[in-house]
Amino acid sequence: MTHVRQHPTQVVAHRGASEDAPEHTLAAYVKAIEDGADALECDVRLTADGHLVCVHDRRVNRTSNGRGAVSALELADLAALDFGSWRGREDSEESPDRDPDGDPSTSSVLTLERLLELVTDTNASGRPLELAIETKHPTRWAGQVEERLLHLLKRFGLDTPEEPARSPVRVMSFSARSLHRVYAVAPTLPAVHLMQFASPRHREGRLPQGVRIAGPSIRIVRNHPAYVARMQRAGHRVHVWTVNNPADVELCVRLGVDAIITNRPRAVLDQLGRP
Ligand code: G3P
Ligand code: CA
Repeated sequence: MTHVRQHPTQVVAHRGASEDAPEHTLAAYVKAIEDGADALECDVRLTADGHLVCVHDRRVNRTSNGRGAVSALELADLAALDFGSWRGREDSEESPDRDPDGDPSTSSVLTLERLLELVTDTNASGRPLELAIETKHPTRWAGQVEERLLHLLKRFGLDTPEEPARSPVRVMSFSARSLHRVYAVAPTLPAVHLMQFASPRHREGRLPQGVRIAGPSIRIVRNHPAYVARMQRAGHRVHVWTVNNPADVELCVRLGVDAIITNRPRAVLDQLGRP
């Protein structure tokens, strides 16, 4: 799969176009592509029978009509649930609100395999598209998440890009250990170290071994204006999450961040003057 980055500030659809469609559903990702997003973001978790599925929370309670931990359910159990007509509240594992406009036809649990097919097909059609995959709860599974992820990426020929800067796929994690596991097997696969609060190491522009992209929260960028320049001076790129309001978009552009991760890709593209 060839890929050429086209724009200085990449716009990444966080859990798909998740302001307009239920997060992590196929509908949310198709909408993000239609909206013009440069890249998609997803979280991955392991099911009880070893499949990687795109679900943010440990449990399915918030984003489906079922209950229980993803890790305790098999893919067939998850496939029987409705992830679309229930719309979750951002960053909450509380009970969901009913969304009367939910579309049941695109509401199944999304496997990472299906999402990779979508990304591969979209690139093959000539429309460049990247995918940022976040490993969730990697420490609990002692390497199984990374092992499955690399196995799947290998099947798609995406695990060892010869030119990392042109890789359509990157791996993200809050866990340096998770990124190290990936690096040990696939050293050329781009990796993003996510950070909610600024660590001294990050503020000095230092990232874990093999990691070339910092993933600070917008809160870090607001509170530490020198952060972006310091990282970039150290040779790293900076991908900021989750940037949803216009003032934060403006700040990111002013500071020259490399990617804006947002629930509202169309609104951000409009603000950037992008088609
Ligand atoms: O893109 C990074 C961001 O998604 C990390 O936070 O909780 O939304 O997965 P979270
Ligand atoms: Ca995420």
